[in-house]
Amino acid sequence: SGTYSLVVVSNRLPVDKVVAADGSESWRASPGGLVTALEPVMRESDGAWVGWAGVAGDHSEPFENDGISIVPVSLSAEDVEFYYEGFSNDTLWPLYHDVIAPPTYHRDWWDSYLIVNQRFADAAAAVAAQGATVWVQDYQLQLVPKMLRESRPDLVIGFFNHIPFPAYGIFSQLPWRTQIVEGLLGADVIGFQRVADAGNFSRAVRRLTGYTTKGATIEVPIEDEAEVQGNPLRAKVSRRGHQVRTVTARAFPISIDAASFEELAHRPEIQARAREIRQELGDPEIVMLGVDRLDYTKGIGHRLKAYGELLAEGKISVADASLVQVASPSRERVQTYMTLRDEIELTVGRINGDFSTISHTAISYLHQGRPRDEMVALYLAADIMLVTALRDGMNLVAKEYVATRFDNDGVLVLSEFAGAADELKAALLVNPHDIEGLKEAILRAMQMPRHERSRRMRSLRKRVKEHDVARWSKSFLDALADQTLAQSSAD
Ligand code: G6P
Repeated sequence: SGTYSLVVVSNRLPVDKVVAADGSESWRASPGGLVTALEPVMRESDGAWVGWAGVAGDHSEPFENDGISIVPVSLSAEDVEFYYEGFSNDTLWPLYHDVIAPPTYHRDWWDSYLIVNQRFADAAAAVAAQGATVWVQDYQLQLVPKMLRESRPDLVIGFFNHIPFPAYGIFSQLPWRTQIVEGLLGADVIGFQRVADAGNFSRAVRRLTGYTTKGATIEVPIEDEAEVQGNPLRAKVSRRGHQVRTVTARAFPISIDAASFEELAHRPEIQARAREIRQELGDPEIVMLGVDRLDYTKGIGHRLKAYGELLAEGKISVADASLVQVASPSRERVQTYMTLRDEIELTVGRINGDFSTISHTAISYLHQGRPRDEMVALYLAADIMLVTALRDGMNLVAKEYVATRFDNDGVLVLSEFAGAADELKAALLVNPHDIEGLKEAILRAMQMPRHERSRRMRSLRKRVKEHDVARWSKSFLDALADQTLAQSSAD
C-alpha cells in the first residue's frame, strides 16, 4: 500500500494534458463541475488525485500541480472509445439523464468499462495508505468501490455521483444494472445530489438485490471471509443472522467555493472587464447569459427557441436584450454531441441572420472554454442568467452566478430539472419544455423591479454562501467517518 490517507479517484484529473501541433506539452484546467468542486477540497488536504489526463495513450508520471499530488491513469485509444466515449458517455450519460438522447448498449463497451474500472481501482489501491479514505467520483467509475473493497478491505470507501440517478423504470433498461448497483454498494457511503436521486438508488437496490434498506441505510451481506478478516470491526450480524456491513446512501448537494468567486468579483480589473463586455456588446439594455458545456442535457436549444420567438414576435429587440452563449466544447467525438453542435450552430446562425443589426448581435456565441476571470466578468455583466437544463445533477454555473453577484443584483432563471432548483428556490424557476413559460420568465426577469431582484438575490446568496463546497466535502467525509465508527462500535 501507499502513503496517502486521502485519495480522490475520478475519470478526469483537474488538469488536462494539451499536446500542441509541434509536439510540445502543457497542462490546462479541465472542464466540468466535478473538478470545479473538488479542486479546493484537495488543495486543503494533502491527498492524491487519481485520474486520466484527457489524452489517449498518455503515460505521464505522477507529479505535483498547484499543491495537489496528481496520479495519472492511462487510457489507450480503444479505452477512450469504448469506456469513455462509449459506455460512460453514450450509455450511462443519456440513461442517467432520463434518456433525453437514446442510450446505446454495447457489450464491448461494458467489457472495457470493467477493465478500466479495475485499472482505476488498482491505481488507487497502490497509493492509499493502510486504513486510508478513498473517495470515488461519478458515473464513469461505479464499479471501483466494490473492486477496491475486494483488494483492500482496510480502506474507508466513499462514492459520490455527480449526475442524476434515474428512476427504476429507466435504470432497469441497463443490461448490467445489477453489477452497477453491486459495484456502488462496495462503498461505505454513497452520495447523491438530490434526495430524489438517493431514493431512486434505494429503490433500485430493493428491486435488484433484495437487501434490507431502512431509510438511508442498506445492509449488505458479507460473502467473503477475507473481507471480515481484513476489517473485523466493520462486520456485524444482522437480525437474520447474516454477517453484514451497513452502507449509507443519501443526498449531499454539491457546491462551489463561493468566497473565491466573490473575491474575483471584487477585483477592479474584473469589474472593468465586465463594463467593457457590455460596451463591446453595443450597450444593450439587458445582457442575458448562458454558460454550459455543449451538451444536450443543458437545454440550449430550448433557450434559443424562446429568445428567437420573443424577437420574432417583436416583444423584444436586439437592442433591448442581447444573449451571450458560452458553449464549451465537450465529448466532440460522440455522434450525439456532433449532431447537437450542428443544430445549435444552425439555430444561432438563423437567429443572428434574422435579427442582428450592424450595431447589435442577437447571440454572441462562443464555442470555447473561457478562463475563470473572464467567466466572473461575464457573470457580473449579465442582468439575466439562463440555466435551462432538461436534466442536470446540480448545475454549478447557477451557483457561480449567485456567488459572483455581491451587488445583490441580477436575475437567475433556473430549470426545475437542475438539482440546484432544490436549493435555489428564490430563482425564477422554469420548465424549459414549456417554451411559452420560458418566454414569460424571460420577460418577467427583464421587467423585474430592483427591490425584487435584490430580495431574491440576497436569499440565493445566503444559501450559496452558507452551503459552500467546503461544507459539502466536510459533511460527506464526516458521514464517512461516522459510518465507519458506528460500525466499529456496533457490537
Ligand atoms: C460532468 C460530469 C463529470 C465530467 C464533466 C466534463 O460535470 O459529472 O464527471 O468530468 O461533466 O465532462 P468530460 O466528459 O469532459 O469529463
